[in-house]
Amino acid sequence: MYNSKIIGLGHYVPENVVTNDDLSKIMDTTDEWIQERTGIQERRWAKPGDGQSTFTMGLEAAKKAISNAGIEKEDIDLIVFATLSPDYYFPGPGVQIQEALEIDTVAALDIRAQCSGFVYSISVADQFIKTGMYKHILVIGSELQSHGIDKSTRGRSISVIFGDGAGAAVLTREEDLTKGILSTHIHSEGKHALELATEAPGMGTRWVTDIIKENDPNDFSYHPYMNGQFVFKHAIKRFSEVISEGLQKNNLEVSDIDMLIPHQANLRISQFIQKRFGLSDDQVYNNIQKYGNTTAASIPIALSEAHEQGKVNEGDTVVLAAFGSGFTWGSVIIKW
Ligand code: UT7
Repeated sequence: MYNSKIIGLGHYVPENVVTNDDLSKIMDTTDEWIQERTGIQERRWAKPGDGQSTFTMGLEAAKKAISNAGIEKEDIDLIVFATLSPDYYFPGPGVQIQEALEIDTVAALDIRAQCSGFVYSISVADQFIKTGMYKHILVIGSELQSHGIDKSTRGRSISVIFGDGAGAAVLTREEDLTKGILSTHIHSEGKHALELATEAPGMGTRWVTDIIKENDPNDFSYHPYMNGQFVFKHAIKRFSEVISEGLQKNNLEVSDIDMLIPHQANLRISQFIQKRFGLSDDQVYNNIQKYGNTTAASIPIALSEAHEQGKVNEGDTVVLAAFGSGFTWGSVIIKW
């Protein structure tokens, strides 16, 4: 039996910065509304036609994480890719990474747990390492949201929030069971699936041909929908529960947390959690101000940045926590 530990991190965001003022030119919104409700100042949106995709951004982040880990790409035994915005309906981008990295026939799988995708992926990777089946696992969270959202006033409550980007981590074995990933905790509640969802195209519901045949100008089922306040309330409840669950499992106190990296859903949610747990500003990392909500990419981007800035160090207790569409939620407790 082993623990797993993160030995490499990397992230990538498109160059194109979109400010709140930029958005107010294409829809009825204001910098004031967006900052007050979400804390977001700007986000990155890949430019249409520039060739960037969930896969290409994920690949950039993955290359950085592999280099940061100091391993060869040939050392990787498994690729786990989390996204809600794959390049193709199928297959998922995991196999595109395998092909691009030229790592012959290595296993690749895709995780569909939306904003909780990275936490779920770490949990999956952790199980493979614990059992000794694999030694090095590449975990990627990447999203290209900007091409799928409704950028008119109709879609403003969603489109101002989401951004593009990717983050990646390399996990390996840790023989000292008091170090590395101490535990992961993942949950779901499918009864709320359609409170935050993109319904179409779906094989079991409405396929592309149905949408084209009906040609209904009021059909926006192919854009994301979110019942914002409902999601907000559940997010606060589940974030709190799953952080507490992780701390209790490891006999840790809130004061033991050196760094909490919450999924960057909304700065107000992070601040609420910070206050509820009585954490100081130094104990919580937020970067939603710069990138918006990048769903499965938000935690690995934030973790990679925090690590680069020297805010995550050996011996630190690091907590990752996520909540999102599904609903899904989870946490990871790490002794760095
Ligand atoms: O990442 C996965 C998990 N996601 C989350 O946890 C997100 C949770 N939800 C939220 O973050 C917030 O609910 C939002 C940021 C999405 C929305 O904020 P809100 O404070 O809940 O606003 P609201 O949806 O209740 O809308 C309030 C008003 C409405 O106008 P009326 O009906 O009061 O006249 C909206 O039409 O704000 C209006 N509005 C906007 N106005 C300017 C909605 N979006 C915008 C906008 N600009 N972009």
